[in-house]
Amino acid sequence: MATRITKKNLSKSSKAWMKEHLDDHYVQLAQKEGYRARAAYKLLEINEKMGLIKKGMTVVDLGSAPGSWSQVAGRLVGDDGILIASDILPMDALENVTFIQGDFREQEVFDQLMNEVGDRQVDVVLSDMAPNTSGHAVIDQPRMMYLCELAVDFALKVLPKDGSLVMKVFQGKGEQELRKDMQSQFSKVRTIKPSASRPRSKEVFWVATK
Ligand SMILES: C[S@@+](CC[C@H](N)C(=O)[O-])C[C@H]1O[C@@H](n2cnc3c(N)ncnc32)[C@H](O)[C@@H]1O
Repeated sequence: MATRITKKNLSKSSKAWMKEHLDDHYVQLAQKEGYRARAAYKLLEINEKMGLIKKGMTVVDLGSAPGSWSQVAGRLVGDDGILIASDILPMDALENVTFIQGDFREQEVFDQLMNEVGDRQVDVVLSDMAPNTSGHAVIDQPRMMYLCELAVDFALKVLPKDGSLVMKVFQGKGEQELRKDMQSQFSKVRTIKPSASRPRSKEVFWVATK
């Protein structure tokens, strides 16, 4: 039977997390501005700095649920653009967004996405994918690196020259090796840590241009 979460039965650390979450400037802003998650502000800042997503573009959003990056990207590409989103979890529908639910590690999902892309040129691939973390780097880091490798593989298949990949990476084991590989596959790889990304979080975002 599911247990209802109340202030009483939350552990001390969960209470502290809940308080921090509710007090968070970006959580409040997201609620006010109608974004599904505070993550929206990470993409907004990245795009403002790098000027990647523009009207009419085709964008693929990997690890899209609950959908705040899709909201941002959808607005940026506008009615003439195309947005294809995918996540292992369900995502509430968004206007003009094609959503594919499934595990990106499975060939079938990869193929479904490739099918949906068809003959189109994808201008930008976004990946905010991250595994459920256990708090143990030995478990979480390889899982994250694997998702990153798959996202890079997908991006290399669908991006034309000048196309871009924006990808969340956890700093840690395997990161430098992947970056080295990417430096030979893309013309430029830049790192950005948006202000909405919590300073204590190991996440950074790489923007790679083909
Ligand atoms: C940080 S959240 C993404 C938030 C989203 N960008 C937004 O703005 O709403 C990371 C997402 O990666 C997804 N994810 C994790 N492993 C995945 C996998 N194997 N295949 C597809 N999605 C995955 C999770 O379900 C989760 O929704």
